[in-house]
Amino acid sequence: MKIKYLGHSSFLIETNGSKLLFDPYISSNPFAKNINIDKIEADYIFVSHGHLDHVEDLERIYKNQKKVILISGFEITNWYKVNKEFSRLHPMGPGSKWKFDFGIVNCVSECHSNSLPDGTYGGIPLGFVIESENKTFYFAGDTGLHQNMKQIGEFHKIDFALLPIGGNFTMDIDQAVVAADYIKTDKIIGMHYDTDYMIKINHKTALETAEKYKKKLILMKIGSELIL
Ligand code: NI
Ligand code: MN
Repeated sequence: MKIKYLGHSSFLIETNGSKLLFDPYISSNPFAKNINIDKIEADYIFVSHGHLDHVEDLERIYKNQKKVILISGFEITNWYKVNKEFSRLHPMGPGSKWKFDFGIVNCVSECHSNSLPDGTYGGIPLGFVIESENKTFYFAGDTGLHQNMKQIGEFHKIDFALLPIGGNFTMDIDQAVVAADYIKTDKIIGMHYDTDYMIKINHKTALETAEKYKKKLILMKIGSELIL
């Protein structure tokens, strides 16, 4: 599995012959200037919730890519259908799963709010547990720490988790290490940090905290790739 970090909570993950894009937010991220949005190729776009810092470049990438399919909660896919004329959609609901060509997507409910850029209610924010290539990973989107994460650990063997660690809007590292315990993984890829002053973290402290709890925290450089 090849994981490319596009900044904030945006990732491009290549697995089983498919390119999965998560929460595209690049244009307004001052640290992602080197990412060429129009060169991003994706087969599927996953959107955890409708806040601007998760959907800003969704429409542009969707319209660039003639076959890409948007996977998100019903309220989100429906909003894009009605307002942006999207047609390649796969709506899902919390607690559901579906088998795609690259693997199985399990949707979990997260502890956050959810609205579209115009203020329309966006439904329950989702996280995704994805099984592909004999591996399972968890993309949490924006969330606080919550007890449902224990259920993820109960039903899945999570190889690694993409967790928000910036605090203020989501978990910080102190809570993310507990989340990693709940979902029973020792590998965390950090996201949703450093983009602005409210979510700025101390990298050294975060890495030390993870180590103290016997977790491996990976803070990817924007534009870098990782094979897991
Ligand atoms: Ni959010
Ligand atoms: Mn966010």
